[in-house]
Amino acid sequence: MNKKLWGGRFEKDTDSLVEKFTASIDFDKNLYKQDILGSMAHARMLAKTGIISKEEAAQIIKGLLEIKMEIERDEFEFTYELEDIHMHIEKRLFEKVGAVAGKLHTARSRNDQVALDMHLFVKEKIEEVIKNIDLLMNTLWELSLKHQNTVLPGYTHLQRAQPIYLSEYFKAYYYMLKRDKKRFVKAKENADIMPLGACALAGTTLPIDREYVKEQLDFSKVYENTLDAVSDRDFVIEFISASAILMVHLSRMAEDLILWSTSEFDFIELDDAFSTGSSIMPQKKNPDVLELIRGKTGRVFGNLISILTIMKGLPLSYNRDMQEDKEPLFDTANTVISCLAVLPGLLETMKIKKENMKKAVEDSFIDATYYAEYLVKKGMPFRHAHEVVGKMVSYCIKKNKKLRDLSFMELKNFSTLFEEDVKDENKVFYN
Ligand code: ARG
Repeated sequence: MNKKLWGGRFEKDTDSLVEKFTASIDFDKNLYKQDILGSMAHARMLAKTGIISKEEAAQIIKGLLEIKMEIERDEFEFTYELEDIHMHIEKRLFEKVGAVAGKLHTARSRNDQVALDMHLFVKEKIEEVIKNIDLLMNTLWELSLKHQNTVLPGYTHLQRAQPIYLSEYFKAYYYMLKRDKKRFVKAKENADIMPLGACALAGTTLPIDREYVKEQLDFSKVYENTLDAVSDRDFVIEFISASAILMVHLSRMAEDLILWSTSEFDFIELDDAFSTGSSIMPQKKNPDVLELIRGKTGRVFGNLISILTIMKGLPLSYNRDMQEDKEPLFDTANTVISCLAVLPGLLETMKIKKENMKKAVEDSFIDATYYAEYLVKKGMPFRHAHEVVGKMVSYCIKKNKKLRDLSFMELKNFSTLFEEDVKDENKVFYN
C-alpha cells in the first residue's frame, strides 16, 4: 500500500482519480519559497521553546535549504500522489534528513501552514504591485508636465464637449492610480498578520512561541483567534478587489488610447515596439497590448467573483474549498503586474499628434460653453446665455462657420453684451 503522510487510519489506497482531483501541486508549487521560509521559522521556534533540539532544527533547516535549491534548479520531482507543496517538501525532507523530518510538523497543521504561505505571498505581491504603480504614476506625471500646453477635445458621451489640456488627461489617471496605491497599502496592512500556531483550528497544547515566528517572518501582529486564523481569506479578497478596481482604470486608459490610435481620431500613434501587425492586412498596426489590458480585466473581475463565492458559504473553520483560493490569487497577481509593467514603455514611446488634437478642437463647437460663460460674466443669467449660444451654433451650422469665425457685428446681433475682449480670452485654445 502506498502510505500517505496522513495515511495512518486508511486501509486502502486513494483512487487515482481522487488523487488527481484533490491535488493542488500544479499550482501551489508557486508557494514553495514561502512554504520553506515558514517551515524554517517554525523549526527555529520549536528549538527555541525546547520542543525539538537545536541540532534537530539545524538538520531540518539545512534539508529545507537544499530542497529550495533543488526546486530552483528544476531538479525536484512533483507528483499528484503527494497532493500539495507542503507534502512534497516534507516527504523530500524525510529522504534528506531521515526521521527527524517527522518533527517539523509538530504544533502545526497544513491549515495554518497554507494560511501562512498565502499571507507571505500576498504581502510580497502587493509590494511588487505598488512598485509598478509607482513607475506608471511617474510616467503619467512626466507626460503631464510635458503636455501642459497641448490642447485636445475633452469628451462626455464620447462627443466633443470642452477643450482640455492633455496634461489634465494624464493627471486624471495619475490620481486614479494614487487611490489604487492607497488601497494596496491598506490591503498589505490587513495581510500583515501571522496565522501559524492556530494549527488545524484550535491551537496546540505544546508551549509554542508565536511572537517569535511573527518576528522572524517580519509580521506586525499575530491572529487573536485560531478559528479566524485558519479560515480568514479576507486578505486575498482585498488584494483581488484592489486589483479589480485598478484594472478598471487600466482598462479605461487602454480604451481611450485605442480610440485615439484609430484613423478616425488619429491623436496618437503607438510605437512599432508596442504594437502588432495583422497576418492578412499588410497596412495594419494594431493596439493589441491595449486590447489585452482591456480584455484581461475580465479575468481579474472573474477572480474576484470566484474568491467571494468560494468563501461565502463556508462553515468555520478550514474547508477544502479554500484550496480554490490559489489560482484566482496567482492569476490576479500575474495579470496586474504584467499589465502595469508594459504601460510605461508604451506611453513614453507613443507619438502624440498635437496638431491633430488641436485641429479636432478647432473643427468643433467645443468653445460654446466658453461663450456662454462669457455672457454670464457680463451679467446674463446662465440659462439665457445657454440659449443665445445655442442659437449662435445653429446659425454657424447653416452658414458653415465656426463660432470663432463670427465677426464682432454678428456676435452683437446675438447679444449686445459681447465686447471686443471676447476673442482675447478665448485665444488660449486657438493659437
Ligand atoms: N492544499 C491545501 C490547501 O490549499 C492545504 C491544506 C490542506 N488541509 C487539509 N486539512 N486537507 O488548502
